[in-house]
Amino acid sequence: QDTHKFRLFDVMKWAQAKYQQCLLESPDSQAARKYLGERHLAGASVRQFGLGFAPLDGEWLVKQAQADQVPPELLVEVGLIAARDEARGYYDRFRDRVMFPIRDAQGRAVGFGGRIMPDSPYAARGPKYYNSPETLLFKKQEQLYGIDMARHAGSSAGFLAVVEGYTDVMMAHQSGIANVVATMGTALNARHVAQLVRHVRKIVLVFDADDGGNTGVDRALEIFVSQDVELAVATLPEGLDPADLLAQDGGAEVFRKALGDAVDALDFKLNQLFAKAEHGTVDGVRRMLDIILGIIALAPPVPSQSAQLKQELILTRLAQRLGVELRSVRGRLK
Ligand code: GTP
Ligand code: MN
Ligand code: MN
Ligand code: MN
Ligand code: MN
Repeated sequence: QDTHKFRLFDVMKWAQAKYQQCLLESPDSQAARKYLGERHLAGASVRQFGLGFAPLDGEWLVKQAQADQVPPELLVEVGLIAARDEARGYYDRFRDRVMFPIRDAQGRAVGFGGRIMPDSPYAARGPKYYNSPETLLFKKQEQLYGIDMARHAGSSAGFLAVVEGYTDVMMAHQSGIANVVATMGTALNARHVAQLVRHVRKIVLVFDADDGGNTGVDRALEIFVSQDVELAVATLPEGLDPADLLAQDGGAEVFRKALGDAVDALDFKLNQLFAKAEHGTVDGVRRMLDIILGIIALAPPVPSQSAQLKQELILTRLAQRLGVELRSVRGRLK
C-alpha cells in the first residue's frame, strides 16, 4: 500500500517537472510567462513554488508519459489524464492552464490547481481554477497551499495567516511575508486547523474584500469556539484580495498592517453586527445575542477542559459587550 503511494508521489514529481520545464522553456508557454509577469509574479517565486504550464494540446502530457515510459494508469489515478471511451487512448485533463503544484508539509506535490489562461478558448466553458480530483494523495478539504513554505516562518512569527488563493500566498512570500497559507477557496475547517496548530497557536484569517469574502466569518467563528486556537480576522482595503494589494506600490506595508490590526474573531463578528443592527434597542441586542449563540450552538462540541473554559470566556465577553448579564446569556444558550 505504502509502496503504491510512493509510486504516485514519484509520478506527481515527474509531472510537476514536466509542467515546469514547459513553462520555463517551451515556446508554447510564452503567453503564460507573459501573463505571470503581468500579474507581478517574479521568476524566483514561480520557480520556488514550482509553477508550470499545461499546453492547449489535448494529449501533451499523454505523449510526455509515452516518451518517458510512465504508466498511463498511474497518471489516471492521480487525475492528470483520463481514458477515452472505447479504449481509444487517453487525454489530458488540464489544458491551457498555469499549473500550481499543491504540496504537503514535506514539500511533496499531492495535487494541482490549474488556472485557465484569460484568453483561452476554454476560458468560457471551464472553471477559472480546476483542481486535481480527490486521490490517494490529495484531500482537498484538508490541504493548505503553501504550508511547506510557510510553517517555519509561522513558528517564528507566532501565527499563520490564511488567505484564499494560490497567487495570494505567492505574492505574500514575494513581498517578504512568508507565514501565509491558503485554503484554496473553501472555508477554513477543523481539519485545516488541526494542521495549523502543529505549528502555531494563532491563526489570522484574511478574506478577499469582495462579495465572497465575508461569508467565511461565521464558519470560522464556529471553529474558533470549538478549537483550542486563537483566531483573528484581518481586513483589506475594499475590493482587493491580497495578491491585488501586494501588486501595488506600498501594498506590502498595508498588508502587514492589516495582519497586525487583525481583530479577534468574536469581536469581528460583533463589530459586523453592531455596524448593521439597531443597537441600544432591546430587540436589537437580543437579535445579536441570538445570532452569536446560534453560531456557538452549531459548533461541534469539544469536551475538553480548555474548550469549556474558552466557551465560558466567550460568553463572558459576549455579556460584557452586549451589556447583559452572564446569567441570561448562559440561559439563552441552553
Ligand atoms: P485569480 O483570479 O487568479 O487572482 O484568482 P484568485 O486566487 O484571486 O481566485 P478567487 O479569489 O476567485 O478564489 C480563491 C481561490 O479559490 C483560488 O485561488 C482557488 O484556489 C479557488 N478557486 C477559485 N475559483 C475556483 C474554481 O472555479 N474552481 C475551483 N476548484 N477552485 C476555485
Ligand atoms: Mn474572491
Ligand atoms: Mn482572490
Ligand atoms: Mn477574486
Ligand atoms: Mn486574485
